[in-house]
Amino acid sequence: MKVYRWATAVVVIAALGLVAASGGEKPAAPARAIPDGPLGDAIRLGEMLVEQTTTHPLTKPYVGNALNCTSCHLDNGKNLNAATFIGVASAYPAWSPREGRVVTLEDRVLNCFMRSCNGVRPPLGSRASVAVTAYITWLSADMPLRMNPSKPNGPNAVPTLEISTDQADPSRGEVIYAEKCASCHAKNGAGRKENPPVWGPRSYNQGAGLAQTPQLGAWLKVAMPLDEPDLTDHDALDVAAFVNSHNRPAFKLEDHLPPSSKLGEYNSEAGSPKP
Ligand code: HEC
Ligand code: HEC
Repeated sequence: MKVYRWATAVVVIAALGLVAASGGEKPAAPARAIPDGPLGDAIRLGEMLVEQTTTHPLTKPYVGNALNCTSCHLDNGKNLNAATFIGVASAYPAWSPREGRVVTLEDRVLNCFMRSCNGVRPPLGSRASVAVTAYITWLSADMPLRMNPSKPNGPNAVPTLEISTDQADPSRGEVIYAEKCASCHAKNGAGRKENPPVWGPRSYNQGAGLAQTPQLGAWLKVAMPLDEPDLTDHDALDVAAFVNSHNRPAFKLEDHLPPSSKLGEYNSEAGSPKP
């Protein structure tokens, strides 16, 4: 069926063109299909957990605020500009200055639960942990392993702002917030409907990456306002300083770790002795 094949080729080329256009020269999500069988099931489950972190029964117990992973990793981590998961697995194991350790991708995933999601670290090897890690790894399929020796960041990490943090002006940020953000996130930062809270008890805690004003500014520049990110470096830094000048949950590591017996589990369903 020549005609059919040609039509398929056109669709594929058009699709590749779209991906390339949205991400410049950056690599796109794997073009190949999700594998069959239990691995594919885990990848699909992982994507579901990234999207429904606060409500899915496998992750809900480990989240302490109103944020799903996709609240910051836009489009389930497939948006190449806004803290994408594409390519991330190629950076691990990586050196983490924050943790003072070499961390694996699974560690990094779990740490986001206790920091950005203000919850409790799920056990290593648990279904949620394996599924989310499998999903993120799949988004790096076929990319060369680089193992980042300086920071736990993938090749498409959000670029830092080209403006010094000393120049942050939160009162100018307040004006920008009222104009460009309050319609969705509310004047008091508590969010409304599907727009999550940006400060207060239901937002990310002080231990989260976004609690650092330069990091929040860098992310805002590529991600917000959601419908049309258009902030200048100066705007992004100022509004970040304003958002982070409000209260949010404190971060004390001990409060976010489960009892040591729950930190990890044997990653197998064949653990019990065979009769
Ligand atoms: C409050 C916002 C926020 C939430 C919620 C959040 N993250 Fe993150 N996360 C970030 C930011 C910002 C980074 C740094 C990304 C960058 O520099 O590109 C990051 C980094 C990561 C990284 C490392 C990326 C890399 O380049 O190496 C992983 C993995 C990750 N997050 C997983 C998750 C998972 C899984 C969840 C949900 C359980 C989650 N995050 C929830 C903001 C968030
Ligand atoms: C059109 C509505 C809209 C506008 C305008 C908007 N946001 Fe958002 N924002 C969202 C949504 C929705 C999300 C979660 C993304 C998702 O779930 O896909 C989000 C996520 C966020 C997050 C990360 C999650 C959290 O709640 O902490 C921050 C921080 C944030 N926005 C700040 C801002 C700032 C600052 C502005 C103004 C410059 C802004 N937003 C403008 C809708 C909006």
